[in-house]
Amino acid sequence: MLAANVEGRAIARTQRATPRPGFVHLVGAGPGDPELLTLKAARVLSQADVVVHDHLVGPGVMDLVPRTALLVYAGKERSNHALPQDRINELLVRLARRGGRVVRLKGGDPFVFGRGGEEAAALAAAGIPFEVVPGVTAACGVAAAARIPLTHRGHAHAVTFVAGHRCDGNADLDWPSLARAQQTVVVYMGLAGLPELCRQLVAHGRAPSTSAAVVQHGTLPTQRIVRGTLETLPRLVASAELKPPTLVIVGEVVAVSEALVAMPELATLAAD
Ligand SMILES: C[S@@+](CC[C@H](N)C(=O)[O-])C[C@H]1O[C@@H](n2cnc3c(N)ncnc32)[C@H](O)[C@@H]1O
Repeated sequence: MLAANVEGRAIARTQRATPRPGFVHLVGAGPGDPELLTLKAARVLSQADVVVHDHLVGPGVMDLVPRTALLVYAGKERSNHALPQDRINELLVRLARRGGRVVRLKGGDPFVFGRGGEEAAALAAAGIPFEVVPGVTAACGVAAAARIPLTHRGHAHAVTFVAGHRCDGNADLDWPSLARAQQTVVVYMGLAGLPELCRQLVAHGRAPSTSAAVVQHGTLPTQRIVRGTLETLPRLVASAELKPPTLVIVGEVVAVSEALVAMPELATLAAD
């Protein structure tokens, strides 16, 4: 009911606003730090009539939404989907049909584990013009903030992004390929399945001593990093009581990063 009211107000707003035909911008908001937004994303956001946003969009990014724009929360936490995906697709189509600039604002990049492809397909099927504005995906933004190089000569010549909610026992992940040495595996949505992930990688041949880390709230002031190995990480993470969103990074590059975190950050230097 609440969602229907919000939807109704959003549609009324676009009817009053900018001219037809409507246009949808599928915009990547990056991993949280508003300074990681692209210039294009910031411009498109500043011109929005309606913004349909996810829970992963950082508060600093939401501050850039114009006061005149109507906000629609589409949710999507692990167990709290404010609107199911089909409803989001339909909503975008309906909003666009009434004219105006509709921004679909999504954490990270819209086309990396973001269902941006499904939304784009719904818009294309309905004949709605749209564009995709890429964002810094969590793997890149979070790894940079944690100073973990995703590839590094002599340690990782490949990097694989994988969705960890599939690490639930009956996963259809390609474990032999993920367990290959000399590669980095970045796991999105991997906190709940972390013990199974580590167990499967070791069972398929990755050394138990392989370095691995979990980064909570990467790029945000609440960022925390827990480092360990495939053998120790699940226990360390359980006792650290990390809160999502978190990213799991597995590979020798995590050990490489230990030398990099020893250097002070710019903010620390400026404070001295
Ligand atoms: C549904 S996926 C969306 C990914 C997004 N489209 C992207 O490109 O980053 C959500 C997952 O991304 C990861 N994630 C997003 N932002 C993060 C952050 N600031 N810190 C750690 N992990 C993050 C987490 O694994 C989270 O569960």
